[in-house]
Amino acid sequence: MPNLVADLLAWYDRHARRLPWRVAPRREHAEGMTRVAPRREHAEGVTRALPGEPVDPYRVWLSEIMLQQTRVAAVIPYFEKFVARWPSVHDLARAPQEDVMAAWAGLGYYARARNLHRCAQMVSATLGGVFPDTEAGLAELPGVGGYTAAAIASIAFDRSAAAVDGNVERVMARLYGIAEPLPKSKNQLRALARALVPDARPGDYAQAVMDLGATVCTPAKPVCGLCPWNAACIAHHDGDPESLPARAAKKERPTRHGVAFWLERASDGAVLLRRRPQEGLLGGMVEVPGTPWRDTPWSRDEALEHAPVAGEWRPVRGDVRHTFTHFHLTLSVVAARTADDIDGQWCARQDIAEAGLPSLMRKVAKHAIKARQDA
Ligand code: ADE
Repeated sequence: MPNLVADLLAWYDRHARRLPWRVAPRREHAEGMTRVAPRREHAEGVTRALPGEPVDPYRVWLSEIMLQQTRVAAVIPYFEKFVARWPSVHDLARAPQEDVMAAWAGLGYYARARNLHRCAQMVSATLGGVFPDTEAGLAELPGVGGYTAAAIASIAFDRSAAAVDGNVERVMARLYGIAEPLPKSKNQLRALARALVPDARPGDYAQAVMDLGATVCTPAKPVCGLCPWNAACIAHHDGDPESLPARAAKKERPTRHGVAFWLERASDGAVLLRRRPQEGLLGGMVEVPGTPWRDTPWSRDEALEHAPVAGEWRPVRGDVRHTFTHFHLTLSVVAARTADDIDGQWCARQDIAEAGLPSLMRKVAKHAIKARQDA
């Protein structure tokens, strides 16, 4: 299949998604065209690079960390916010950790934000603000795993590296008709992906496969009629591309349980928040105080042992539900008012939206506030 790479790059030259961390396809370089001076385009509040603009490794790194386990559409506003506030790795390194965590709030997988900040500090302080330009060098940075190192090496530094995520696995499984289910087929799919990576334009190639997986070779209803690889694709010829990749049956997610304490200060209605420990789920994030989460529901008495103050805790009707990668969580909420000005992080009601709460805790706040209004 000698033309696979050329066909995909030609498709990418025409159909590349315009994303704020991206420069336009490198075709101009390949063809030796004269390029205009770089200037940023502003549309819909999004800054976009123009052809010829050099790739900024900081922007590529930041986007790749944000794109781990997160969809492009969700990432775009966060990326815009971060680069506007912290235009360089030095700016990000100098920011207080709480500001970075608060700006990340809502994007999920918060270990990424802690590692992002550590990584910025390392690159700023020990590498003079210069990102390593090899896959191996990048992989040594905090928060940069194999996929991300390969993605940054190829996109930012035009290294021949294979960035293989779930999208790329799906494309390879279909193109080569790999019937073996994931995760057993992982190594085989990775090897197939690696064998295709070209020496010329590897950065565009990496992004082209990503775009193909995101816009054409989608998990459901792939648009094979528009695919530059359809002539070669075994799954397309076999007539049921959606059936690949096969997957071993997934384990059911268990449900865990907790109780959240919505405490209002009698004098001004401010709400008690606290910061979670650095380690573990939602590590370092602000939260509504609560019990630990466990496999069985809490009785009232058990739960109240964890309350921030003794008081008249009233149940808030209904539960808050949230799904994490490995479990569902059901939180019941109890509410109280207190005249004591206990030590803690009190947040004015009108400032809660800006308090940097993760999505779960935003749900808790919304639920409690609505119940108070309805009462
Ligand atoms: N997913 C992971 N990295 C990506 C990128 N650079 N562009 C689009 N989707 C991606």
